[in-house]
Amino acid sequence: MSSRTVHLIGAAGQLGTALRGTAPAGAVVRPYTSDDIDLVRRLSVREALAGLRPGDLVLNAAAYTAVDDAETDWDLAFRVNGTGPALLAEATADAGARLVHVSTDYVFAAEPGRTAPLEPGDLDPAVEPESVYGASKLAGERAARAADPSTTVVRTAWVYTGGPESPDFVGTMRRLEAARPEISVVDDQRGSPTYVMDLARGLWELIGRIDGPGDGTAGADLHAVGAGEATWCQLARAVFAGLGADPGRVHACTTAEYPRPAPRPAFSVLSGRSWTDAGLTPLRDWRSALAAALENR
Ligand SMILES: NC(=O)c1ccc[n+]([C@@H]2O[C@H](COP(=O)([O-])OP(=O)(O)OC[C@H]3O[C@@H](n4cnc5c(N)ncnc54)[C@H](OP(=O)(O)O)[C@@H]3O)[C@@H](O)[C@H]2O)c1
Repeated sequence: MSSRTVHLIGAAGQLGTALRGTAPAGAVVRPYTSDDIDLVRRLSVREALAGLRPGDLVLNAAAYTAVDDAETDWDLAFRVNGTGPALLAEATADAGARLVHVSTDYVFAAEPGRTAPLEPGDLDPAVEPESVYGASKLAGERAARAADPSTTVVRTAWVYTGGPESPDFVGTMRRLEAARPEISVVDDQRGSPTYVMDLARGLWELIGRIDGPGDGTAGADLHAVGAGEATWCQLARAVFAGLGADPGRVHACTTAEYPRPAPRPAFSVLSGRSWTDAGLTPLRDWRSALAAALENR
């Protein structure tokens, strides 16, 4: 990679940590945690990015990600996820830099009976996402694009690190496997499990292509997810099997049996076609990726 400077926002989060750990030789990474930049304050964003130069890249991996809390804490969710990306995009537009903004499968509205993986063009602008979190992330996609039309939006889904202490779904299943004889996991929500290290490497590949020959990613919406699809229950069973435990200890239940404050999409499998059409390497199959994550004991 050429010596492009990458300003990494959300550097201490799950994805930010993986991006720092996978940065290729030649990338100049400037990490910003929430101590260095506050996305809800215009002045903080302006000051933190005052040194932005033409050709620099801002990668926004920061977000308000507490999906259930957002249902009641909607004001902060919209300020971080809706307004924050717009402030970053104003800065990139002014400096002649480029924004890559990470978003989510939860921006898609419910579509009962859908079984075909979602393409970026399937987003219906007339239909609201189901959750406040999804709505706030969709607002951020739109506001960033309005402020800087060259913004590249990368939607991902069901991201996990999978370490024994990780707060994500895979890490949680690891701890439950050790702690409980049997568990119940919802089997009527289907999505795209994504290993954070694969996503991080994919984002670095994207960054390496930006402004290179044949790059068509300016202003594009891309989907970067692990290949294949699963329900949460199938993912949990795969975690148990990967640990050498009996997957039969994981019982299927319904969303109605496990109510949460925020509604989750019944189907939010993302298609990887936009990613490969952009000339990027597909993320590996979610089962192989999970096996790699579980090796991190
Ligand atoms: N995790 C998933 O399953 C998933 C799925 C789909 C899409 N995504 C998207 O992927 C991206 C990365 O998610 P993640 O899993 O890495 O989330 P994460 O671990 O929760 O990290 C988010 C980071 O954002 C920072 N942040 C929050 N509010 C901020 C503010 N006002 N100003 C500056 N920084 C702020 C947080 O800092 P503090 O901790 O200090 O507050 C945290 O380090 C997000 O855009 C998310 O929407 C995630």
